[in-house]
Amino acid sequence: MKIVVSGKGGVGKTTISASLARYLKDKGFQVYAIDADPDANLARTLGIKDDVKPLVELEEVIEEKVGKKGSFYSLNPNVDSVVEDYSLLHDGIRFLRMGGVKKASSGCYCPENSFLNSIMRSLVFSRDEAVILDMGAGIEHLTRGTSAGMDVMLIVCEPSKVSLDTARTIENLAKEGGVNKIKFIANKVRSAKEEEFLRNNFTEEELLGIIPYSEELVLEGISSEDDGSLLTAEVAELMAKLDLDDI
Ligand SMILES: Nc1ncnc2c1ncn2[C@@H]1O[C@H](COP(=O)(O)OP(=O)(O)O)[C@@H](O)[C@H]1O
Ligand SMILES: [Mg+2]
Repeated sequence: MKIVVSGKGGVGKTTISASLARYLKDKGFQVYAIDADPDANLARTLGIKDDVKPLVELEEVIEEKVGKKGSFYSLNPNVDSVVEDYSLLHDGIRFLRMGGVKKASSGCYCPENSFLNSIMRSLVFSRDEAVILDMGAGIEHLTRGTSAGMDVMLIVCEPSKVSLDTARTIENLAKEGGVNKIKFIANKVRSAKEEEFLRNNFTEEELLGIIPYSEELVLEGISSEDDGSLLTAEVAELMAKLDLDDI
């Protein structure tokens, strides 16, 4: 199962991704949590203190597997061992950092892109494996092919017009990119009025659920002691509505 978490910057993608990783791990899945946000903080949210080198910076590996920049290179390299070799196993969750591709215009086929896309394609899982991809705020990732082969996209949004507009833009791009199942999660909801606003803008079918605003999360933030369990109860409730066997 491959789940991608997307949405405007600051809406709670990373917090929800970390809780989702923990939830699925507790359900017995082998979880791969992938940070695809160049301003990465999924590691910290999962309680990882070590520095994990982004895959895109593994220059020698990229050269060996894909080929040199400016020369012929493989669009379909064998990257089977990369995930095992360069991920960090923390608390039963395998963590990977993608890193940012420098100003790649859409459709750019540089070796780094070929490498990242091949890794995403190589993550073909058995029933008991789950990959969670925490996306950057930018939606250029979607044209980069990283969302290809995703089973579900969860688009997080806040109760605001701007956040909603971004969510719909992402939805359209994801549909064009071939993502079949798209659901929305409303986060940081403070009042009945905000809830009503969201319910008016999404169908019941579209909206997986509503996560209330948590003062604790804001005041205390995510510390290095946290383990991604901050919203686990809320995320569990949402996921119960998403039929995992159907994915
Ligand atoms: N339900 C919530 N209530 C209050 N604050 C939240 C909630 N969810 C996330 N946050 C806070 O919002 C900020 C941004 O969250 P983050 O997960 O980093 O967003 P993103 O990955 O979308 O940029 C963090 O400080 C986080 O603690
Ligand atoms: Mg984030």
